[in-house]
Amino acid sequence: MPTNPESIQVWVVCLSDHTCEAWRPLLTDSEWAKAMRFRMPADQRRCAVTRGVLKALLSRYLDLPATEIVFTENQFGKPAIASQALQFNVSHSGDYCVLAFAQESPLGVDVEQIRSQRVVDELAQRVLSPAEYARFMALPDADRKQTFFEIWTLKESVLKGIGSGLSVAPECLEISFFPDSPKLLSADTELIPDVGEWTLHSLSIGHPEYAAAIAVKQKAPSIKVEHYRYYV
Ligand SMILES: CC(C)(COP(=O)(O)OP(=O)(O)OC[C@H]1O[C@@H](n2cnc3c(N)ncnc32)[C@H](O)[C@@H]1OP(=O)(O)O)[C@@H](O)C(=O)NCCC(=O)NCCS
Repeated sequence: MPTNPESIQVWVVCLSDHTCEAWRPLLTDSEWAKAMRFRMPADQRRCAVTRGVLKALLSRYLDLPATEIVFTENQFGKPAIASQALQFNVSHSGDYCVLAFAQESPLGVDVEQIRSQRVVDELAQRVLSPAEYARFMALPDADRKQTFFEIWTLKESVLKGIGSGLSVAPECLEISFFPDSPKLLSADTELIPDVGEWTLHSLSIGHPEYAAAIAVKQKAPSIKVEHYRYYV
């Protein structure tokens, strides 16, 4: 439980340790139907297990039965809990999902499975600002793939924290990155008029093929990362 306003609790879930059916009792009929609409079993599991674990943790933090948790969404689909200060955000990719909670600071989290160099070559110029792209291309070849996914998750975590998601193009943000510690340097003020102060952190989820990051709207958050090993 995030015990004070500076504490951020991050949970990492290995999805293949879970089954959809185990989490069924915590899901509403429409949450279950949404998960089952995916054709591939791995996608069904990603959707059902993420929602189930999210509800189990919220239930614990709010001391409410999971079935009484009511979600709201902003206009871009960012979920929140009606009339509660508790903040959360989730992300999933490949075999992992990451869930982050804070008592009151808005936050965004992102995890990405590191993909091929071809994907990096296709995306880098599109998602990096011109200044970021120049710095990125100056990195040694061997460092670029890992670094690209670190930058990508940092930028997406800010956009998820703000709540716009990718309705705002990631190149509208300018961040510092390796070898400097990550920082949000600027944002396009036309698209994000009042970005505020965000603290950025790359997260290690304990698997070399994944990059992850969190953005918290707070000056000095204390971030605790744990692996979720509870089953229903
Ligand atoms: C949010 C978004 C960036 C997620 O991208 P992604 O890399 O595919 O997915 P992630 O795994 O990182 O995150 C998905 C989770 O983020 C949360 N989320 C959804 N929209 C969000 C938003 N705008 N901001 C923050 N979080 C959001 C949800 O909990 C979602 O999990 P769920 O689908 O299991 O409920 C992308 O879906 C997006 O840009 N959405 C907004 C675009 C828009 O304008 N939507 C309008 C229709 S509602």
